[in-house]
Amino acid sequence: MRVRFVIALVSAALAASVIVSAAPASDAPDPAADAEAFRNYFVTKFPKVKLEDFVNGPYSMNKDMRRQWQEKEEFPPYEFALEAGKEMFAAPFKNGKTYADCFENGGIGVRQNFPYFDAKQGEVITLELALNRCRTANGEAPLSYVKDEMASLTAYMAFTSRGKPFDIKIPDDPRALAAYENGKRYFYTRRGQLNFSCASCHVQSPGERLRAEILAPALGILNAMPIYRSEWAGMGTISRRFITCNSQTRAVPEEAQSEDYRDLEYFLSYVSNGLPISGPGARP
Ligand code: HEC
Repeated sequence: MRVRFVIALVSAALAASVIVSAAPASDAPDPAADAEAFRNYFVTKFPKVKLEDFVNGPYSMNKDMRRQWQEKEEFPPYEFALEAGKEMFAAPFKNGKTYADCFENGGIGVRQNFPYFDAKQGEVITLELALNRCRTANGEAPLSYVKDEMASLTAYMAFTSRGKPFDIKIPDDPRALAAYENGKRYFYTRRGQLNFSCASCHVQSPGERLRAEILAPALGILNAMPIYRSEWAGMGTISRRFITCNSQTRAVPEEAQSEDYRDLEYFLSYVSNGLPISGPGARP
């Protein structure tokens, strides 16, 4: 991030007179009420954007970008990753099993159910983590969470789930609720040298321009993942995006798939329940 850009950002943040939170402050955790307030905030702020359009990130915010995107979708830059992912997904491990053996419905059309809270292990399981657990359970080395192979696999799994609404459940288990609350806290906590939270950019300022980029709204922000980005000249997983966003505000990023990041994904996915999976996505 360039210095001039940082200064512009900080002054924009200082200029914002009212700090708006999309989630109500309440004593007892109430995810359902959070999700409703979250959605209402964005729908009210952007009355012209159709609910299911929020999943298109920056493209939902800006007409010119939307046109670019529609042109791009004719020859999508993630096509290569999609093909690679499909092949990887079908290729047997050394023991003869495949990814399909690890997932419900053979892993087809299930993206919208991730992350989920695993009662046995008492933790949030994201799709990326489930893929690596599948590998290690079958004697294979785990993949990097931020490189092409993981992005290709999740691209393929998202593609088979396109149009299916996020269906994230918070079971009646205090540990699940605690994980959700931790993710929510992570999202709203300011950190790093610039003292920004995720919400500073993706709740307070969606649609605004940072350098050449238009900030995506937090509602539906994971539905298009993984994404191809020209700036990356390749695909990026959810892990990669979280790490990049933390680094952009000069905060120390966590390890990919840390507990905080998984809880954050749990929170962000839950509040986007009902919005369709649109991944893989392409960004300028
Ligand atoms: C300084 C502002 C800033 C902060 C703070 C920030 N991001 Fe971002 N984020 C960006 C920019 C710029 C992009 C790329 C443009 C876009 O898609 O929004 C982005 C993109 C994303 C995307 C991909 C959206 C898409 O559709 O392409 C996700 C997911 C995301 N951010 C999550 C987070 C999370 C989670 C946090 C907190 C850990 C966070 N961001 C904090 C600026 C920020």
